[in-house]
Amino acid sequence: MKVLLIHGQNHRGTTYHMGRLLAEKLTDSDEITEFFLPRDMNHFCLGCFSCIVDETKCPFWKEKEIIINAMEMSDVFIFTTPNYCLAPSGAMKSLIDMLFDLWMVHRPKEWMFRKKAVVLSASAGASCKKAIGTVKDSLFYWGVPYIKTYGVGVQAMNWGMVKPKKKEKIEKNLTKIAANIKKTKKPHVGIKTKFIFNIMKLMHSAGLDSSPVEKEYWNERGWLGKNRPWKTK
Ligand SMILES: Cc1cc2nc3c(=O)[nH]c(=O)nc-3n(C[C@H](O)[C@H](O)[C@H](O)COP(=O)(O)O)c2cc1C
Repeated sequence: MKVLLIHGQNHRGTTYHMGRLLAEKLTDSDEITEFFLPRDMNHFCLGCFSCIVDETKCPFWKEKEIIINAMEMSDVFIFTTPNYCLAPSGAMKSLIDMLFDLWMVHRPKEWMFRKKAVVLSASAGASCKKAIGTVKDSLFYWGVPYIKTYGVGVQAMNWGMVKPKKKEKIEKNLTKIAANIKKTKKPHVGIKTKFIFNIMKLMHSAGLDSSPVEKEYWNERGWLGKNRPWKTK
């Protein structure tokens, strides 16, 4: 199983260790690919909309392409982000913005509909719902059918400060998530994904695209007819 870890931080704190723990429960170290943000994508979306017409025209395509290719090659994505001001880290949000052309409303990738993903977050004590939710929304709208989440308050500024009892609890919860991932051979594409995809299909059929390229993209794949990305081998 190939696992892709995308850390919303450069440092190796609690969220990094949670991500590593989960990845190592799933697979061998040589099957794990890791990106750190902002180290591996040190840019903000400029709002130029170049990607809407041609993804390779993004001013930051060089970095973006590496991350997208790694996503395509992996079976499971693990996104980790500390809770910063009740939100994901700025670096994580920046990557998400950079990938907005992959949303179902634009040009989703077929292979997204076969992936599994986990979003992990740690806070001092506040709810991680919003930090996780922002990442989870993107995963859903990219078409990822299987998304698990886990957020935890640790009252710590680094992994070393996390109390042993809390580490035990984290370990236990991550073991459960890993077991569920392993047991799910082929993720089931749910009714919500199918519903949203069909709404997008109606929009593209009606010419409500952000660029003519989008309608062409959907048409080429037969998505304006009966073909669906989750049916593609
Ligand atoms: C810029 C910043 C903002 C933070 N905002 C919050 C917050 O809103 N709520 C909270 O409970 N903890 C907050 N924290 C604490 C971290 O979420 C917490 O220490 C977390 O465990 C850090 O994870 P890490 O070790 O992976 O960096 C913040 C920390 C920083 C540096």
